[in-house]
Amino acid sequence: MKTFDIKKVAVIGTGTMGPGIAQVFAQHEIAVQIFDIDPEQLQKARETLGANLSLVEQAGMLSDTGAAKIQNRIQDAASLADAVLDADLVLEVIPEVMDLKTKLLGELDEICGPDTILASNTSGLSITKMAQATRRPEKVVGMHWWNPPIIIPVIEIVKGESTGEDVLQTMDNLIRKIDKVPVLVKKDVPGFLGNRLQYALMREAIALLNEGVASAEDIDTMIKSGIGFKFPIMGPLETIDMAGLDIYYRVSQYLNKDLDKSEGAAPIVAKMVEQGDLGLKSGKGFYDYSNQDIKALMGGRIQKLLLLLKELGYVK
Ligand SMILES: NC(=O)c1ccc[n+]([C@@H]2O[C@H](COP(=O)([O-])OP(=O)(O)OC[C@H]3O[C@@H](n4cnc5c(N)ncnc54)[C@H](O)[C@@H]3O)[C@@H](O)[C@H]2O)c1
Repeated sequence: MKTFDIKKVAVIGTGTMGPGIAQVFAQHEIAVQIFDIDPEQLQKARETLGANLSLVEQAGMLSDTGAAKIQNRIQDAASLADAVLDADLVLEVIPEVMDLKTKLLGELDEICGPDTILASNTSGLSITKMAQATRRPEKVVGMHWWNPPIIIPVIEIVKGESTGEDVLQTMDNLIRKIDKVPVLVKKDVPGFLGNRLQYALMREAIALLNEGVASAEDIDTMIKSGIGFKFPIMGPLETIDMAGLDIYYRVSQYLNKDLDKSEGAAPIVAKMVEQGDLGLKSGKGFYDYSNQDIKALMGGRIQKLLLLLKELGYVK
């Protein structure tokens, strides 16, 4: 099967996710052009890149000659057309709004070379629908990175109805080349694999909190020090195999019917959103962060995740 060698990537949108994604490509000798419709975001992206490169350098994760060389592999583009010039892959990382994504995909289809692969970092919108905005649906694919992209190993490859096998294989090769771990989502279902699993867990966590079964702290501790503790080593299906399918069968017969099945967001979440309690970014969510240094909190979490990454053998 013919695959494409990805040497140059354009990352479109440099908000929360774009800078880290650009960094990972650049760390693996891939030239990157970054573009954002908001020039301030491009400026901020440079600052984020500098800070994140120091973090991974301090953690001994740069096999290259250093941060400066990696920064130089990432070029700011003045326009969308400049960004995609000669790109083998264009990855859109713009807000999670279908109309914005289809409009951009249509424009990219007009200005990119015929072999350029168009990928979306959408968290769960339909790749098939995005592909329909182009005349190259076989070259449109989901490439779903997880936050923070400089750390989380997995990337979902999402097959739209028309995505070509050669494109899927190319993405698989690319993800391995940048030392990440590919998983293939064979059907373009809402939320793909990761968010379906994650949202099932979050829905139950919020329902338990809402019903007063446990505090937010104890619910999070149950995951961090309990079932989640083994997730880097054993997934849920491996866990069932370990426990025994007979046990799972018996427990699920009485438990499944009691699990939360609400279709929309829980009323407690709607109320918090209405009050502006949005979590870290507003200083209050399920926890109160008003007296905390949020930068230090996140820095500490990232340091621990980097340690885990090394310990688990993800760093080559
Ligand atoms: N934030 C996360 O944790 C996360 C994790 C995984 C996937 N994603 C997905 O990644 C995508 C981006 O998310 P984000 O959190 O980085 O968003 P964001 O809002 O932080 O950043 C989006 C950026 O895109 C820019 N932009 C908007 N329209 C544009 C256009 N037409 N051309 C160029 N730039 C444009 C904006 O100015 C902004 O800087 C979404 O699809 C989201 O679902 C986000």
